[in-house]
Amino acid sequence: MALWCGRFELGPDALVQSYLQEDNMAPWSGRFKQAPDALVQAYSESISYDRRLYAYDIQGSIAHARMLGKQGIIPQDEANKIITGLKQIKQEIEQGRFVFKTELEDIHMNIEARLTEIIGEAGARLHTGRSRNDQIATDERLYLRDECDQLDELLQDLQKALLTLARRYPGQIMPGFTHLQHAQVVLFAHHLLAYVEMFQRDRERLQDARKRINRLPLGVGAIAGSTLPLDRKAVAEELGFDELLHNSMDAVADRDCLVEVLACLSIIAMHISRFAEDIVIWYSQEFAFIEIGDDFTTGSSLMPQKKNPDVAELARGKTGRVYGHLMALLTTLKGLPLSYNRDLQEDKEGLFDALDTVKHSLAVFAAMMGSIKPRGQRMQEAASDSFLMATDLAEWLVRQGLPFREAHHQVGRFVAACLAREQAPHEASLEQMKEDIPMASQECLQLWHPRASVEARDLPGGTAPAQVAKRMAYWQEKLQMHAD
Ligand code: ARG
Repeated sequence: MALWCGRFELGPDALVQSYLQEDNMAPWSGRFKQAPDALVQAYSESISYDRRLYAYDIQGSIAHARMLGKQGIIPQDEANKIITGLKQIKQEIEQGRFVFKTELEDIHMNIEARLTEIIGEAGARLHTGRSRNDQIATDERLYLRDECDQLDELLQDLQKALLTLARRYPGQIMPGFTHLQHAQVVLFAHHLLAYVEMFQRDRERLQDARKRINRLPLGVGAIAGSTLPLDRKAVAEELGFDELLHNSMDAVADRDCLVEVLACLSIIAMHISRFAEDIVIWYSQEFAFIEIGDDFTTGSSLMPQKKNPDVAELARGKTGRVYGHLMALLTTLKGLPLSYNRDLQEDKEGLFDALDTVKHSLAVFAAMMGSIKPRGQRMQEAASDSFLMATDLAEWLVRQGLPFREAHHQVGRFVAACLAREQAPHEASLEQMKEDIPMASQECLQLWHPRASVEARDLPGGTAPAQVAKRMAYWQEKLQMHAD
């Protein structure tokens, strides 16, 4: 029975009895004369949130039990009983029949206590050569592996939704902004594809973090390893881990793989938030660049005319929360001596919340892409502001042999003169242009077409339709989207 053998007030048989009969006894109660104060129980429990790890806890326990049986550390038939019992518990939890008990503190002890209830004394052999310290570290890594895979799917779905939107409007032009000021003409599709690139790097970051997640802590016990002939490699293999963690103290104390995931999530949230900001701006009356479907906007309880881009605002707002969880875990870890400390239990709620939040944001953004329509006329009008083509004129001069700085200066003076005349550059006559740009010719008067301006930026990474089409084809292939 002994979860913490050696220091019991009661003999083992009596303990087994009380353990089986009494609901409210913690598995480590042997060393204690008094149960923890109710306040302490409430303060220290984690079952209210770590229950979400149940499937991973059971998966790890099954692998551990199988290994214990194979190694002859526990009788084979008892290993089999344990495995059957654990599978039953999984069903009970999934069918909502499992009774989680706060007195049993966490998911590990809840499952173990139930196992002993179901299979009797054989259940007491499961924790052989194992501690909750290596157990929780293993559960978390199994969980994070799955979460990384789900995030990858969600990021890919969002990339696909962005690509679909871009492909629907391949020729749509709009002003590109720097400092939120008109800069140069770009394609709407080019703007959207910028986010496809960002989300691709987010996927790469997660895939890289996953490599470090996929190492097995189990089998190192509480801190120092075990005197029992555990076969850690067999457990790693069964659980699909690439390798073992090689230092027992590191294995139970490390949470940097959680920090990495939180950092990845923070970067994803930051990318979503920037996109959210674009959407809020585009949707404002001043810009009026896009329409968003009714199903992705909300109204005002007071102002009847309002239709607000709340989804984008919420995603922007939730980003702060995700950063907060990253900072919280870094702060929790920074003062911890090796190895396990109970502080580490605080690693979970923020991680879960960050994952839930980012996954939800990714899903809602992917869905929202289908409801966004560019207001083509408005974008086209805004992109026809000929000041956006000032750089085209400067580069034309460079092609005539003028040093760029000089060209920039001359065009700058011309722009200032236009402003003084309250004239757009395309309204200036050749004579007016020549006052500041002696080399100007008829050809310069042809530079003010926004479409020609985008088309001229025809090199890799540029916004020319040919380049953007190439990149869209690349993504279509890479994201395995079928041509329509
Ligand atoms: N609930 C604990 C945690 O999340 C599990 C490990 C407990 N270990 C211990 N020695 N109290 O960290």
